[in-house]
Amino acid sequence: MAVSEVVHEPVLVKELLENLAIKANGIYIDGTLGGGGHAQALLEKINSQGVLVGVDQDEEILEKSKVRLEKFRERVKFIHDNFSNIKEILQKEGLKMVDGIYLDLGVSSWQLDQAHRGFSFRKEGPIDMRMNLSQIETALTKIKSSNEKELTDILKEYGEERLAARIARQLIEKAKRHQLQTTLDIAQVAWEAYPPKARHKKIHPATRTFQALRIWVNKELWALEQFLKESPHFLNEKGRLCIISYHSLEDRLVKHAFRKWATQDQRFKVITKKPVIPSQEEIDQNPRARSAKLRTLERLH
Ligand SMILES: C[S@@+](CC[C@H](N)C(=O)[O-])C[C@H]1O[C@@H](n2cnc3c(N)ncnc32)[C@H](O)[C@@H]1O
Repeated sequence: MAVSEVVHEPVLVKELLENLAIKANGIYIDGTLGGGGHAQALLEKINSQGVLVGVDQDEEILEKSKVRLEKFRERVKFIHDNFSNIKEILQKEGLKMVDGIYLDLGVSSWQLDQAHRGFSFRKEGPIDMRMNLSQIETALTKIKSSNEKELTDILKEYGEERLAARIARQLIEKAKRHQLQTTLDIAQVAWEAYPPKARHKKIHPATRTFQALRIWVNKELWALEQFLKESPHFLNEKGRLCIISYHSLEDRLVKHAFRKWATQDQRFKVITKKPVIPSQEEIDQNPRARSAKLRTLERLH
């Protein structure tokens, strides 16, 4: 594949495939298909009896992955849905049990690059941030119908932003005065909230605010919690559930849910006592890998 066609550099590919303990004729669910990087690696390992069901709530990226995975079209199905609906997705596909399910959370580099989607504080675009374009509420409508206290809590909880109160106050003020027009207006508020000395650190002042707003708009933690309650039920014997997360809020949910499954039901075992993390070499090549953590749960019998 030519570099210009690569929409997203997948993280921990080898480690994910190892952790899934792939069976050549197995049935797999990719709950976050994205540009199809992990899916392609998996499809190369399964044979014509194997199946991959690829789910993504973003229709635009689903179209991208259809192109990328064209040569595997007989073994792959594309589903526009939220992975929190795993039970309904499997029912609709006529599947009871599967050999592996995996998630690679967050947004892809391709989505970040699309200015019109509003995910990036470096690109001017609408204050949108919806992964699912059929959802009604955007980041802007949510900010407008929020108040200072609620927004402060969101920035604190989902962004772990120290300056949450200051940023929230400005965002609410500017929204009232119709001064929040584009992503760069939000980035500017975060920038100004930081003391000048702190503005040029490794992490841009708007990073945490954008993360928090995105998690809020897309109800990301809620979706993950729903998925964690349901998905292990659908694993075959020796089936594996693998999740790659990128921040501590997600990783904590995964860690606790896996532990709970393993302690309350002896059919399940946590395979990764410690999360699998990328090598320094991978981080050097792909900075997005820096915070990735992979955890795996197995259904033993
Ligand atoms: C990090 S990217 C996945 C990249 C993919 N593994 C690859 O190799 O190209 C995450 C993808 O998951 C999707 N996504 C995030 N949350 C979702 C959810 N709750 N349900 C379905 N898709 C979701 C996003 O739209 C995005 O395309």
